Amino acid sequence: MAAVLDTVRAFFAPTTYTIDSETPADVVARENLLDRVMGPERRRKSSEKIRRGRLPAEGLALVARDEGGHVIGTVRLWNIEAGISQQGAPVEALLLGPLAVDCTQEGHGIGGALMRAAIAEADRRGHGAILLMGDAAYYERFGFSSQKTRHLVMPGPSDRDRFLALELKSGWLDGAAGMIVASGRKLAF
Ligand SMILES: CC(C)(COP(=O)(O)OP(=O)(O)OC[C@H]1O[C@@H](n2cnc3c(N)ncnc32)[C@H](O)[C@@H]1OP(=O)(O)O)[C@@H](O)C(=O)NCCC(=O)NCCS
Repeated sequence: MAAVLDTVRAFFAPTTYTIDSETPADVVARENLLDRVMGPERRRKSSEKIRRGRLPAEGLALVARDEGGHVIGTVRLWNIEAGISQQGAPVEALLLGPLAVDCTQEGHGIGGALMRAAIAEADRRGHGAILLMGDAAYYERFGFSSQKTRHLVMPGPSDRDRFLALELKSGWLDGAAGMIVASGRKLAF
């Protein structure tokens, strides 16, 4: 019973957190958080193939920290080409993911704060659009929809209803068609 009460108290306790840039010192905590929240099968996702061997887009790896500085949330965005335009030029865009919040901290607005900070920073840096694979029921509150991804294809198996986009510049994805490919800086091995 005491354990149940502790859980209930923790859920309703005010959560103080900050959104910050990820640093190299956060990498182990971020990977552990992703393993806890999403399980090891996260590495087999189609979007993971696009991220593998690449660095996130400049300035677009964010973490949420608790009062002690511990990582309790993570989101990163990656440079991609979202097919080609009607003029035949690659369409530069960002792929968002994974987004994850520590299970003990869910429902306190941390995921939303990470999303809003990531979208604002991508916009500030002049990017045209953000794509992601995820639940429309969650991401539509930030303006994502499947309308602009109809002619785009993720590598590997994927669910079209979960393939979503948000334009930061109106019309950025108009006419974009073809395969999503990674275009970001490669990791040095
Ligand atoms: C999805 C996730 C990031 C949300 O983080 P969070 O800090 O709890 O989010 P917020 O507090 O900002 O928002 C909570 C709201 O989102 C809703 N929500 C959470 N996941 C949802 C989903 N998959 N579909 C629809 N709504 C969802 C909650 O019900 C809650 O709704 P309410 O505001 O009406 O009560 C977190 O639950 C998580 O890490 N989930 C596992 C990993 C995952 O699925 N990541 C997304 C795919 S990359």
